[in-house]
Amino acid sequence: QELQINLEQIEKGGYDHFMLKEIYEQPNAISDTYRGRMRVAEGIIKMAGIDDNLAKLLNAKRILIIACGTSWHAGLVAEYIFEELVRIPVEVEYASEFRYRNPVIHQDDVVIAISQSGETADTMAAIKLAKERGAFVFGVCNVVGSSISRETHAGAYTHAGPEIGVASTKAFTTQITVLSLIALKLAERKGTISNSDFHYYLQELERIPEKVKLALESNEHIKLIADTYKDAKNFLYLGRGYNFPVALEGALKLKEISYIHAEGYPAAEMKHGPIALIDEQMPVVVIATKKGHYDKVVSNIQEIKSRKGKIIGIVTEGDETVKGLADHVIEIPETIEFLTPLLTTIPLQLLSYHIAVMLDKNVDQPRNLAKSVTVE
Ligand code: G6P
Repeated sequence: QELQINLEQIEKGGYDHFMLKEIYEQPNAISDTYRGRMRVAEGIIKMAGIDDNLAKLLNAKRILIIACGTSWHAGLVAEYIFEELVRIPVEVEYASEFRYRNPVIHQDDVVIAISQSGETADTMAAIKLAKERGAFVFGVCNVVGSSISRETHAGAYTHAGPEIGVASTKAFTTQITVLSLIALKLAERKGTISNSDFHYYLQELERIPEKVKLALESNEHIKLIADTYKDAKNFLYLGRGYNFPVALEGALKLKEISYIHAEGYPAAEMKHGPIALIDEQMPVVVIATKKGHYDKVVSNIQEIKSRKGKIIGIVTEGDETVKGLADHVIEIPETIEFLTPLLTTIPLQLLSYHIAVMLDKNVDQPRNLAKSVTVE
């Protein structure tokens, strides 16, 4: 028994929980994901799974992304990135919905299946269906040699290393990293972005791990915020554009490990329902980074404030406007808009982690949840 405990402590590398270790591994995990694939000085992205199937991918009329849980949120971020950079229409589907609704699939559709474990039963079944109907299926998995990585026609691994905590953290940010690399490569080949933008974007992606490290430095400040709101019964998470899926992911993290009810919403949709919930008891986490409809988000913040909601703003460093309105702000470094999810996610992971620890919940193995869902 004692040996068992010691072994586990060693595996956690000095952290109290696997989840915290995995949150802190993200700077390395992200650079492991692009290492050997992205050559910034030369302006090259090399990925075997993409290079070997380039024509198919470039000629795709539509990209269908299928996934579950956190991987589905990464898919939503990818939808924004692909449409913006590659100008191909993208649809993102829950695997469990896709497979049961007789979906329209064409030969020139490319299906991207995203799965950390590579074992999720619904995602696997959706892949089989897409293959039967003639689509080319590309996998984005973390676990090497997993069932989904074997079932797909081609793929790219995230190389995040083993993720033990049930609540996914580094798998999410590395999925976004791989999908960004794919989008950048296709955009460059298609000519939908300029050469100078392509080079600039690669440089910015290379700077992300350092910026994630800076974002992690807010940990103590986030702990204080967690302590203030740990007894709240509900949380609302709002974001727009690239950060709307991050709002969903932030809410999911909180639900999964602290069992506090939380909802993620596109900030502008708030007025169509959730605004009715806002009172002085309601913490609202708003992602309000400088780029990406900033002014609109600021006016959403004003609407929350006038209803006495408690505002926790995730802002670009140096922001003064939101600071003047919010009860708390958490700063993240500046980056280009489509890479902001890699930074805005970090404080939301830490916030749910600290709340769950303070509530004495089983962070790494929350009740009723499994790391890999191999049943339907
Ligand atoms: C489970 C896990 C989640 C994960 C989801 C999809 O619900 O608890 O963290 O996001 O499955 O898993 P996958 O391995 O396919 O990404």
